[in-house]
Amino acid sequence: MAPTRLPHSTSELLRGQVGDALDLETRHGNGDLMRVLDILGIAGPFKVLNPWELEDQEGRHLIHAGGYAAMPFGEAYPPLLDFVREYLVNNHQLGLPQQSLSEWRGALAANLVALLTSVAPSHADSHAYFGNSGAEAIEAALKMARATRPKAEQFINFEHAYHGKTHGALALTPNEEYQAPFRPLAPDVRTLPYGDIDALENVLQRGADRICAIVIEPIQGEGGVILPPAGYLRQVGELARKHGVLVIADEIQTGLGRTGPWFASVAAGMDPDIITLAKPLGGGIVPVSATIARRSIYKALLPGLASKRHSTTFGGGSFAMAVALKSLELLVNEGLPERSATSGRYGLDRLTAMAKRFPGLVDSVRGAGMLFAVSLKPVVGFKVPGVSEEDVQTLAAALFLRELHQGGVHGCYSTNASRTARLTPPLNQPQETLVEMFDRVEAVMAKNPTPLAMLKKLPLPRMLKLARVALG
Ligand SMILES: Cc1ncc(COP(=O)(O)O)c(C=O)c1O
Repeated sequence: MAPTRLPHSTSELLRGQVGDALDLETRHGNGDLMRVLDILGIAGPFKVLNPWELEDQEGRHLIHAGGYAAMPFGEAYPPLLDFVREYLVNNHQLGLPQQSLSEWRGALAANLVALLTSVAPSHADSHAYFGNSGAEAIEAALKMARATRPKAEQFINFEHAYHGKTHGALALTPNEEYQAPFRPLAPDVRTLPYGDIDALENVLQRGADRICAIVIEPIQGEGGVILPPAGYLRQVGELARKHGVLVIADEIQTGLGRTGPWFASVAAGMDPDIITLAKPLGGGIVPVSATIARRSIYKALLPGLASKRHSTTFGGGSFAMAVALKSLELLVNEGLPERSATSGRYGLDRLTAMAKRFPGLVDSVRGAGMLFAVSLKPVVGFKVPGVSEEDVQTLAAALFLRELHQGGVHGCYSTNASRTARLTPPLNQPQETLVEMFDRVEAVMAKNPTPLAMLKKLPLPRMLKLARVALG
């Protein structure tokens, strides 16, 4: 018989009376991930003080630089929340208008295409498909490309790329830990070194007919904020055009101002055929993604009576569309791409100076707008029996994130780069918070001359617990 009373009620949750979040998460969720974060002392749950500042359970004040580049305005940004309240009261259209007209969906498509066209005029008649995650935007892009070039089965991607973890997107995310158990993966993918234009030219010259599309991040975010050489993206676009191959620019992380421009690929001289967007589009409160494609490419996937060939129940839902419309409006009205570029220059200068000052800890630093990476020196220079090389390497980033947390900064991992921690603060982070954040990062580095020093500070019981998780 179904239970008459569920174990936890929303009213309890709203009153904060549910109890131990770690216990709850561990019993029925991805407990191992939460346990690792808890051992490191960075699991939260966190209380939001204002969009840019948090507090942990011990009352520690934290500057928010987490969120994996999906928080353009920080947490619970009042102008966005005010709009949401107004929408909930005043909207009378269907919530999920899958097979009916929606002004919200139509307006978002029109605004996105207008924004893109303002910098890439060839997109004036492009169309947008809406999904619920970045990976879903990639799936749609792959299918659009295949539908356009049905005889070309192979995609080109790049080392250290990250395009998501659903089956098709996973094929484009070269990482043994993520891919190995699921081979053979589809579609067929050829992975080339990022930034090496000769390698791409060779492959295209030897058989462009087989190649459907080049899938490229204009800056590799999860790969550790890797910027390609100057001129590379423009050349990739030119080569693709010359050989009749499509270009899919994955701007899920770089787009809409995170790295400065609206579209990093376009700013670098590319005119991609398909652009994927997600993270900031949801304003940090709803999952939403968009795949924008030239009309002919979009229509190849969704033509006439086959226009239901690709769909998802929640895609284009009115609430998500409304929040995305408002997010886009706020990004435009508050001039956040320019602000991101300016704050980003300041931040990268600070990090560069830190890398020089703390060579025992920091291997390298990189940045593009409000996307910052700190790659650390390895914790140990030898193989640890029974623990994967990847886990050993990741330890440096994990320990650094712990030290950052202790020092009052909430950062994030780089999910396709070991030894790299990242800061992805809100694009509208107040100037004094930005300065304070880098002061805190510098103070953390000053206290931790090497990764080994960070490891030695981890209390023994925590170290043992971590070893137990690592060894399974
Ligand atoms: C460039 C890029 N593409 C795709 C994705 C996948 O997005 P999601 O995690 O929403 O599926 C990410 C996520 O980090 C990303 O950075």
